[in-house]
Amino acid sequence: MNNRQLRLHSRPEGLIAPGDFQLAESQVPELKDGQALARVKYLSIDPTMRVWMAVDSYLPAVGIGEVMRAGGFAEIIESRHPDYKKGDRITGLTGLQEYVIIDASAKQFFQKVPKIPFVSDTVFLGVLGLNGLTAFFGMEIAAPKKGETLVVSAAAGATGSIAGQIGKIHGCRVVGVAGTDEKCDWITKDLGFDTAINYKHPGWKAKLAAAVPNGIDIDFENVGGEIMQEVLNRMNLHGRVVVCGFISGYTKEDPNMVSLGTIIVKRLHIQGFLVLDYVSRFMEAATQLGQWKMFGKIKDRETIVEGLEKAPEAINMLFTGGNIGKLIVKV
Ligand SMILES: NC(=O)c1ccc[n+]([C@@H]2O[C@H](COP(=O)([O-])OP(=O)(O)OC[C@H]3O[C@@H](n4cnc5c(N)ncnc54)[C@H](OP(=O)(O)O)[C@@H]3O)[C@@H](O)[C@H]2O)c1
Repeated sequence: MNNRQLRLHSRPEGLIAPGDFQLAESQVPELKDGQALARVKYLSIDPTMRVWMAVDSYLPAVGIGEVMRAGGFAEIIESRHPDYKKGDRITGLTGLQEYVIIDASAKQFFQKVPKIPFVSDTVFLGVLGLNGLTAFFGMEIAAPKKGETLVVSAAAGATGSIAGQIGKIHGCRVVGVAGTDEKCDWITKDLGFDTAINYKHPGWKAKLAAAVPNGIDIDFENVGGEIMQEVLNRMNLHGRVVVCGFISGYTKEDPNMVSLGTIIVKRLHIQGFLVLDYVSRFMEAATQLGQWKMFGKIKDRETIVEGLEKAPEAINMLFTGGNIGKLIVKV
């Protein structure tokens, strides 16, 4: 059996170029005792992959020639591992490849997921996966109160769309910032955001100001740069800024940062976080997210791209705004 893999060939500058990955093919080795073989069905496409391709961060950069690191959903097809049997379903760091071998050392990077009737496999990469969990814990840090104004950037994306809906559950006035009219319509008409601002329209700054007549109490920040600066300028004194990500800077060598002086003038509380800090509480959060989804309090959406070889283009879609909701590659 052959395993097709995308290996990192060169570190990208700007968007990923065709030669930055190499498609390699090798035989799946014979399983040894203590190993299980899983077929990767879906890959989670995340902005942090562009960071992993370029620099050391909270994880070391992927080495040149290594299989590209990625989250995924896989099914065990053969096992000589005591904890896994054929048919078990797992999520974790599968990498951009068709098959992954799980052994004792890799076990910490995978967890089993249940088969739930009427629930698609892909939710375990989106609303019940790291994006939903990120929104959940980020909003916990934000400590929203009824009547407060929350602004979410990248609001029609996998994380932002859930964070905004959690804000609505807590009774906030929620304003989303997104890059197309279709995205703005989706988050207001389907997800219940109060207002959406298309930051690609001229005059968006004035529209943002008009959308927050009582100022902003919470910024759920996914983007950074100019959008974050505009939001910070309208924060109320002692407002909370939850820094989830700075996607506008990931493809640039010199990211457009915000003026730190605003933090003093507004006496802001700013907290960055990584969802991985909350691993011990994932089950609790996934249970709550699952209930909200089941009762229709949060809705999710996916953009699915077909084919492992399309993964590089899919990563770029995150930076050109080509996805609505969770971006997934079907292997
Ligand atoms: N802290 C953590 O543990 C953690 C975990 C997961 C994700 N994150 C962060 O959360 C953020 C969202 O990630 P996600 O996985 O949910 O991706 P996503 O929001 O589904 O996709 C990224 C979206 O960002 C928007 N975007 C891209 N470049 C932009 C720019 N220069 N200016 C404004 N908007 C831009 C695009 O939408 P538009 O069409 O609206 O531009 C794009 O669709 C990222 O910053 C990511 O790094 C953090």
